[in-house]
Amino acid sequence: MTKNVAVVGATGAVGTEMLRCLETRDFPVGELHLLASAASAGKAVRFKGQDVTLKALEGFDFAGVDIALLAVDTDIALECAARAMEAGATVIDNSSAFRMRDDIPLVVPEVNGALLSDHPRLIANPNCVAAIMVMALAPLHRVARIERVHAASYQAASGAGLPAMRELEESTRAYLNGQKFEPKVLPHPYAFNFFSHNTPIDPDTGYNGEETKVMRETRKIMDLPDLRISITCVRVPVLRAHGIAMSVEFDQVVTPETAREVLAHAPGVRLVDDAVANRFPMPVEASGIEDVLVGRIRRDVSDPSGKTLSLFVCGDQLLKGAALNAVQIAEQLA
Ligand SMILES: NC(=O)c1ccc[n+]([C@@H]2O[C@H](COP(=O)([O-])OP(=O)(O)OC[C@H]3O[C@@H](n4cnc5c(N)ncnc54)[C@H](OP(=O)(O)O)[C@@H]3O)[C@@H](O)[C@H]2O)c1
Repeated sequence: MTKNVAVVGATGAVGTEMLRCLETRDFPVGELHLLASAASAGKAVRFKGQDVTLKALEGFDFAGVDIALLAVDTDIALECAARAMEAGATVIDNSSAFRMRDDIPLVVPEVNGALLSDHPRLIANPNCVAAIMVMALAPLHRVARIERVHAASYQAASGAGLPAMRELEESTRAYLNGQKFEPKVLPHPYAFNFFSHNTPIDPDTGYNGEETKVMRETRKIMDLPDLRISITCVRVPVLRAHGIAMSVEFDQVVTPETAREVLAHAPGVRLVDDAVANRFPMPVEASGIEDVLVGRIRRDVSDPSGKTLSLFVCGDQLLKGAALNAVQIAEQLA
């Protein structure tokens, strides 16, 4: 049975990938409505070999839409989700507008997809770092309870949308040509540089907004409200896949061999852990693929008890961190 689908923010970094996922995964799309700002209205986007004309979100009537996939900023998502639900649509939202609301499920299907069996009308799609991290953490947690996570992220430009990806390309070109470049999208030079995530710092905790989201959302997705977790989030000059280094403490000894065995069989995870060839997860290999790459699995020698493992994950955050995860949610609901 087909579903009438609306993609809101269809011209953006996430929206574009949503269309690609709907296409490549052969989602049973009935009517397709592609929505963006008024500036994009009238332009055409290709879907399954046909031109689909973009419409302005403002004034769009969601009547008849079964699933609305939102890939717009928080303020637009708040207003749009209410409008779409009132018209009868089920909403899957990529912004942070609803993620921490107790009454709204925050879903990564491989981890807590069971929450979708209640057929919620509004589902939140997680922060991209949290979504990628839990793909490795959840399978391990099924073997031994995770007590603590200590992490650092290496985040790509795509996490800040298409304008940031363009800024990385343009500033790199300018740098190589010896030209001056004034950053417009991000607050610091991005070419051949990296910097602490540009979300505001909470003066009480010292953590920035991105770090706070990752910590809170990881606890919620994994249903571990007391999980001890800390992360440092950094933007690196990579186009579209995030890396995350993690030390994970369990309530018992978990050997690297056990972790490898578990992760090798985990859905949506691909083990890349070749110590002989020194080959581990890399953004260039994670970009454009659905699986999250996991490797560098080793005992964390700073914990002599043997209960802590270190590992590295890399995932395309436009896919598993955003568009793919949203489409997987839609598939489970369909
Ligand atoms: N990038 C990621 O990896 C990622 C991951 C997880 C979650 N998210 C979240 O997903 C959302 C979209 O992010 P993005 O990276 O795709 O941003 P983006 O590349 O900047 O795209 C923004 C989209 O919003 C549309 N838009 C802007 N103003 C609008 C308006 N007034 N009415 C309707 N549409 C409007 C834009 O349309 P026009 O082209 O017409 O301006 C564009 O399609 C954000 O909430 C973001 O936090 C992003």
